Amino acid sequence: GSSFNPGRKKLLSALRLWKFVCLSFSEKLLVLTVATEETDGFHRFMQSARYFNYTVKCCWAVLGMGEAWKGGDVGRSIGGGQKVRLLKEAMEALADQEDLVVLSVDSYDLIFAGGPEEILRKFQQANHKVLFAAEGLIWPDKRLADKYPSIRSGKRYLNSGGIIGYAPYINRVVSQWNLHDNDDDQLFYTKIYLDPLRRETLNMTLDHKCQIFQNLNGAVDEVLLKFGTDRVRVRNTVYDSLPVVVHGNGNTKMYLNYMANYVPNTWNYEHGCSHCDDDVVDLSQLKYPNVLVGVFIEQPTPFLPEFFQRLLTLDYPKDKLKVFVHNNEVYHEKHIQKFWEENRNVFNSFKVVGPEENLSQGEARNMGMDLCRKDTTCAYYFSIDSDVMLTNRQTLKLLIEQNRKIIGPLVTRHSKLWSNFWGALSLDGYYARSEDYVDIVQKKRVGVWNIPYMAHVYMVKGSTLRNELKERNYFVLEKLDPDMSLCRNAREMGVFMYITNRHDFGRLISTANYNISHYNNDLWQIYENPVDWKEKYIHKNYSKIFTENYMEEPCPDVFWFPVFSEKACDEIVGEMEHYGTWSGGRHMDKRIAGGYETVPTDDIHMKQIGFDKEWLHFIREFISPVTLKVFSGYYTKGYAVMNFVVKYTPERQAYLRPHHDSSTFTINIALNNKDTDFQGGGCRFHRYNCSINSPRKGWSFMHPGRLTHLHEGLPTTNGTRYIAVSFIDP
Ligand SMILES: *[C@@H]1O[C@H](CO)[C@@H](O)[C@H](O)[C@H]1NC(C)=O
Ligand SMILES: *[C@@H]1O[C@H](CO)[C@@H](O)[C@H](O)[C@H]1NC(C)=O
Ligand SMILES: *[C@@H]1O[C@H](CO)[C@@H](O)[C@H](O)[C@H]1NC(C)=O
Ligand SMILES: *[C@@H]1O[C@H](CO)[C@@H](O)[C@H](O)[C@H]1NC(C)=O
Ligand SMILES: *[C@@H]1O[C@H](CO)[C@@H](O)[C@H](O)[C@H]1NC(C)=O
Ligand SMILES: *[C@@H]1O[C@H](CO)[C@@H](O)[C@H](O)[C@H]1NC(C)=O
Ligand SMILES: *[C@@H]1O[C@H](CO)[C@@H](O)[C@H](O)[C@H]1NC(C)=O
Repeated sequence: GSSFNPGRKKLLSALRLWKFVCLSFSEKLLVLTVATEETDGFHRFMQSARYFNYTVKCCWAVLGMGEAWKGGDVGRSIGGGQKVRLLKEAMEALADQEDLVVLSVDSYDLIFAGGPEEILRKFQQANHKVLFAAEGLIWPDKRLADKYPSIRSGKRYLNSGGIIGYAPYINRVVSQWNLHDNDDDQLFYTKIYLDPLRRETLNMTLDHKCQIFQNLNGAVDEVLLKFGTDRVRVRNTVYDSLPVVVHGNGNTKMYLNYMANYVPNTWNYEHGCSHCDDDVVDLSQLKYPNVLVGVFIEQPTPFLPEFFQRLLTLDYPKDKLKVFVHNNEVYHEKHIQKFWEENRNVFNSFKVVGPEENLSQGEARNMGMDLCRKDTTCAYYFSIDSDVMLTNRQTLKLLIEQNRKIIGPLVTRHSKLWSNFWGALSLDGYYARSEDYVDIVQKKRVGVWNIPYMAHVYMVKGSTLRNELKERNYFVLEKLDPDMSLCRNAREMGVFMYITNRHDFGRLISTANYNISHYNNDLWQIYENPVDWKEKYIHKNYSKIFTENYMEEPCPDVFWFPVFSEKACDEIVGEMEHYGTWSGGRHMDKRIAGGYETVPTDDIHMKQIGFDKEWLHFIREFISPVTLKVFSGYYTKGYAVMNFVVKYTPERQAYLRPHHDSSTFTINIALNNKDTDFQGGGCRFHRYNCSINSPRKGWSFMHPGRLTHLHEGLPTTNGTRYIAVSFIDP
C-alpha cells in the first residue's frame, strides 16, 4: 500500500512496528505528510511520490486522514497547529531512532521533483540536524524580521511547509508544542529558530538556497521548468539549484498547478503525456451513466439549429441524457420549438426555461447545475454554451473516460488563438497568458491540463456537485462573470479543473456582429464564421471538383458543378420571397445604370436585400477557384455588378429570349428542383444547338457571357423556378 490511514493509536503502534522495517531499507527516510482529505492536490502529491518510489523505498505515513481539519484556513490566515500536533504524536514513537531522517511536508499544494536519494544527499551536505524550508517573505509576524540571523545571500525566513531532520531532533522540536490546533505552526517553529540557544542546541538551519525546498510564494520569477529526456525539473535560476520539493504556498497554487502539468514526468517533449491514461473509466464495461446536459443560449447565436443537430448526433444513448435549456433570446424560440417538435421523445427529458423567466445568466447556470446536484442518479453534468460547435460525436464518452472532477474539451475559434480556457490569471483574476498557452491551443503539446479558468463547455461529476461543490449558487460571486465565479469557487475548494486537447472536439463560433434583422440571418455569416457558413451552405460534393474532377460539361464550354447545399438554395429563395418586391421584368429599371434593361428578368438584386458584399465574397471564395480550373490561365477579378435571383413562372415571366450576357463569364445556380417545384425550364445555347433541360438544385452553370454563348431561358410551364445569376467581370 502506498498510503496509510489509521487512527491515532493504530498509527503509533504501526510506527513502532515499522521502524524495524524502515531501518532495513537502504534509504533511512521516513516521509510524514498531513492530509485530512484525499483532495485532487493530495492525489497529485502521491503520484509524484510514487513516481520517485518514495512509497517503496521509504517509510511513509499520511497523518490526519479522516480527521476534521481544525488547522484554520492556511494560506489565507494563520493556522496549521493541527499539523504540529500530529507530527508530535508520531515522533514520540521515533525519538530514539538516531539514524532515521524524517521529512515532514504538506501535501495538497506540493509535489516532489526529485527522489529520496537526492534529498538525503542534500540533507547530509547541509550538515545540520534539522533543516527548514526558507522563503523571502516573512510570515506571520513581520516584527520578527530583525531577530533573524543575517545571511550573505539566499532566502532569510523560515517556512514550515517543509522540514527535514534526524528523528530525535525533530522530536525535540515538536515536543515543545502545547498550543491549539488552530494556532500557527510557522510561528511556533519560527520562535524556536529565532532563539539562538535553541537554534544551536537543536542544530537547526534553513535551506536558504532552495537545495531541497522551493517555496513558490514570492519566487515565481526565480523558477523555470527544465526539460530533460524523461523528467522535468524545476530550476531555481537565482541559486542555480534543482529543488526536490516544490511548494505552491501563499497565492501560488495556480503556478504550482502549471508546473505540475510537467513536473516530474506529467508531460515532456519526448513522451508527451504520461498520466493521461491513468485511472480512466472503461465505458465498455459500464452501463452508460446518466448525464444532464445544460444548454445555455445567452445571446443571439448563429447556426443554432445546427448546434441542436449536433446534440442529436452525439454518440451516447439518448435515454441517458436529460436536457436543460436556458434560452435568453426571444429570437431563438422558434428554433427550439422546431427542434423540440421534431425530437420530443428522443431524450430522457427536455426542459426549457425561456426568456420570459428573465433569469440572469448566473441564476440560469445555477439552476442547471442544481438539477444534476439534486438528482442522485445524475452522474455527470455537461454544460455547453450555444456558441460551441461540438464536431466530435464521442465528446461525452471521451470526457467521462478521462475521469476528472471537472474537465472541459478544448475548443477554439477557427484559425485564432481564442479558446475556452486560460492558462494563467492576472492578479485581478482576468486572463494572463501562460508560457504554454499557444502550444496547447495549437496542439503542439497534447494532454490533460490543470488550468485556472475554463468556460463555454465542461463536464462536472455529479458526485463532485454533491460533495466539494455542494453549496449552491456557484455562478454568482461578487461582480464576476458567471464562469469566472464558478472557476474561482472550484479553485478555492481545491477542485482541479482540466482541459483536454487529446482529441479534436470542435470549435467556438463568433456571436459578434450577428445581425438578426434579416429573415435567414446565418446567410450573412460568411465573414464572421466562415467554417460554419461553408458547412451549412456549400454543397457536400463541392470539394470533389478539385479532388475528383467532379464536374460536367453538358455543352461546349458550359461547365456544370455543385456549389450550394439545399439549405443555401431554400434560404436564398426564402429571403427573396420575404423581401417580396420582384421587379416584374420591365425594360425600365431604376436599379441599374442607364435605367434601361434590354433583356429584363423578373428578379431581385442581391443589393436590394443587403447581400451584395457577402455574395461577392462567396464568388471570390467558391467560384473563382472553379474558374481557374476550367478556364486555365484566366484569373477572374471576381467582380460583378449584376447579382440577382430570377423567378420564372407561367403567371408572370416564364422564359427569357435569346441574349448575350454583359460578362466575361456567367454563373447560373439552380435554386430549386425540376419536377417537384416546377415543370419546364432549362437553358439553350444556340451556337451549339445544345439544351440543358434538367437543371439540378444547388448546381451552377458557368459559361462565357459574350460572343460564343448566345442563350435563352426555356419556358417554365408550371410552378415557380428560381435561379441565382451573376455576370462576372463585366
Ligand atoms: C522506481 O522503481 C522502479 C522499479 O524498481 C524503477 O523501474 C523506476 O526507475 C524507479 N523510478 C525512479 C524515478 O527511480
Ligand atoms: C550540527 O551538526 C553537524 C553534524 O550533523 C555538526 O557537524 C555541526 O558541527 C553541528 N553544528 C552545530 C552548530 O552544532
Ligand atoms: C428582468 O430582470 C432585470 C434585473 O433582474 C430587471 O431590471 C428587469 O426589469 C426585469 N425585466 C422584466 C421584464 O421583468
Ligand atoms: C442589420 O441589417 C439590417 C437590414 O439589412 C440593416 O438595416 C442594419 O443596418 C444592420 N445592422 C447592423 C448593426 O449592421
Ligand atoms: C455526392 O456524390 C456522391 C457520389 O457521386 C453521391 O452519392 C452523393 O449523393 C452526392 N451528395 C450530394 C449531397 O449530392
Ligand atoms: C438541334 O438538335 C435537335 C436535336 O437535339 C435536332 O432535332 C435539330 O435538328 C438540331 N438543329 C440544328 C439547327 O442543327
Ligand atoms: C402543376 O403543378 C401542380 C403542383 O405543383 C400540380 O398539381 C399540377 O398537376 C401541375 N400541372 C401540370 C399541367 O403539370
